[in-house]
Amino acid sequence: MGFDPQAFRQQFPILATQNRFGKPLVYLDNAATTQVPEGVIQAIDTHFRRQNANIHRSVYDLGTQSELMYESTRQAVADYIHAASVEEIIFNSGATEGLNWIASQFTHLTPEDEILVTIQDHHSNILPWQRLSATVRFIGMTPEGDFDEDDFQKKLSSRTKIVSIAQYHNVLGTVNPIQRIAQAAHQVGALCVVDGAQALLHGPIDVQEMDCDFWVTSAHKAYGPTGIGFLYGKSSLLNNCQPLRFGGGIVERVFTDRPAIFRSIPERFEAGTPNIIGVAGLRASIQFLNNLDWDSLQKYLQQLQHELLERLLPEVQVLCPNNHRIPIIAWVQSDVHPHDCASILDSEGIAVRAGHQCAYPLMQHLGITGCTRVSLAPYNTREDIDHLVQGLKKIHKILGRKS
Ligand SMILES: Cc1ncc(COP(=O)(O)O)c(C=O)c1O
Repeated sequence: MGFDPQAFRQQFPILATQNRFGKPLVYLDNAATTQVPEGVIQAIDTHFRRQNANIHRSVYDLGTQSELMYESTRQAVADYIHAASVEEIIFNSGATEGLNWIASQFTHLTPEDEILVTIQDHHSNILPWQRLSATVRFIGMTPEGDFDEDDFQKKLSSRTKIVSIAQYHNVLGTVNPIQRIAQAAHQVGALCVVDGAQALLHGPIDVQEMDCDFWVTSAHKAYGPTGIGFLYGKSSLLNNCQPLRFGGGIVERVFTDRPAIFRSIPERFEAGTPNIIGVAGLRASIQFLNNLDWDSLQKYLQQLQHELLERLLPEVQVLCPNNHRIPIIAWVQSDVHPHDCASILDSEGIAVRAGHQCAYPLMQHLGITGCTRVSLAPYNTREDIDHLVQGLKKIHKILGRKS
């Protein structure tokens, strides 16, 4: 049976709402955050109603229930991304925290050491590296918007200590050849860090197959709540990492006259009361992802993306149009500022993203200050595209001269 977008859509209560002008919600900003299905909302509700207690310190039943939920979610995440062991998963607030945490392990690097990122990377995968003493270099992109392998080979050297790159980019939807990148990085003795923020929504994850050293993501990018995410790291590396935050839950013993004895991974990196309710939501979102029929869902999204691209092209100037990407499409319009475009679409109930998309180096590379972006999720439909195209026609009428 093929994918049924209407049945899928019905699991997301917010999609049945209307804006203040009575227009039905057309939600096309899924790369920023996805909507949350009933099952995840209910899991959060149930945890607060029936399981809420602190973990790793309570001997009573409620605490045990809460801890069981928390730790079994760690196992579910490890299974979902094919980590070699459960201790390789550290809960945090999301991809940004994960990348900052990883960068904090490399304060010993010097300006002679190099870190490679790409011109398309999100600020979250640039700024944490730029705070270190190492030199950050940018791998370019091809005119079509793909990863520039030649430039990568030119810049990769024995000085490279880390190659940090998004699995999928958040403006052009570019898909990066992570396995090849990791292999090349390892050949020069560098580590490969992968920003998986856009990856959870678009297919199953296998960190061992990619052979990356670290991988980070955020639950809200794939049907989960905000403020929760996780970091994967190979246990051989995590065992040599230092905590960034210190507090309860990470030590075996604390002394007055000698250093504390720390717990082993992963607890060593989760000081203080964690985001337990976030983990309850993450757990349900992983279950939701586990139940998806990826083949039919991806086919559906590809068709929708194809149709969107075809119907957009006469209206706007799509940046590096390409169907072999994840369904994120960005454009510029002569005579129409992206913020004006997004505001007028908003009055029609259509939510899109406008601005530099947290990818300023890419904007500079393309010679623009911002763009408008649509990002699809499987609950989007042909009718959503109809609304968008109608909205763009309206904008053209109001503001456009030659777009
Ligand atoms: C590619 C990429 N990396 C990192 C992030 C940061 O994610 P978060 O804000 O959930 O930490 C985003 C968010 O848009 C993203 O698209």
